[in-house]
Amino acid sequence: MSSAIALFASARRNGNTGQFIDWIASTLGIQVIDLSEKNISPYDYDHKNINDDFIPVMNQLLRHEKIIFVTPVYWYGPSAQMKTFIDRTSDFLDVEELKGIGKRLRNKTAYIVCTSISDNADSSFINSFKSTFEYLGMNYGGHVHANCENGYNQVEYEEDVEKFIKSIQE
Ligand SMILES: Cc1cc2nc3c(=O)[nH]c(=O)nc-3n(C[C@H](O)[C@H](O)[C@H](O)COP(=O)(O)O)c2cc1C
Repeated sequence: MSSAIALFASARRNGNTGQFIDWIASTLGIQVIDLSEKNISPYDYDHKNINDDFIPVMNQLLRHEKIIFVTPVYWYGPSAQMKTFIDRTSDFLDVEELKGIGKRLRNKTAYIVCTSISDNADSSFINSFKSTFEYLGMNYGGHVHANCENGYNQVEYEEDVEKFIKSIQE
């Protein structure tokens, strides 16, 4: 397996999404970065935040070929921390010194791990990620979703997780 890493962002560390990714990450033996522990401020046209944790986190991700984006569905979209991180990839488009870093995302494979209280991850949620990956030149590897309508219940997701893990290990 080429190396993988998970980028996790939820309003709580050990909630549904946290438990879901901890299970997947421990099976794969990969690191989980928790965006809530990082100081990453919202996109700024003037780039006054250039020295916050965004570039160090991105450099950590870029050491891996497979990047797993992990978030609950909050109002048909990702968590605020994940959205902030995605917005910041715009720094690569308009800060000359960072363009080289942005280009290194190309041809990496992106995956989504998500939870919600619906049968499936909302299509607008998945599609916004897919479009973003495409724009950044990344391949889309697929997603796995846990319906936590009745709480987090691992046995319900075993089959889907097994398939997802196999697709990452290919
Ligand atoms: C602010 C907020 C918005 C939510 N929006 C949605 C939604 O649009 N669709 C959905 O199915 N579930 C929604 N949920 C439910 C969460 O996706 C679900 O409970 C998820 O498993 C929570 O993961 P967490 O424990 O990591 O926060 C929302 C929950 C919160 C707190």
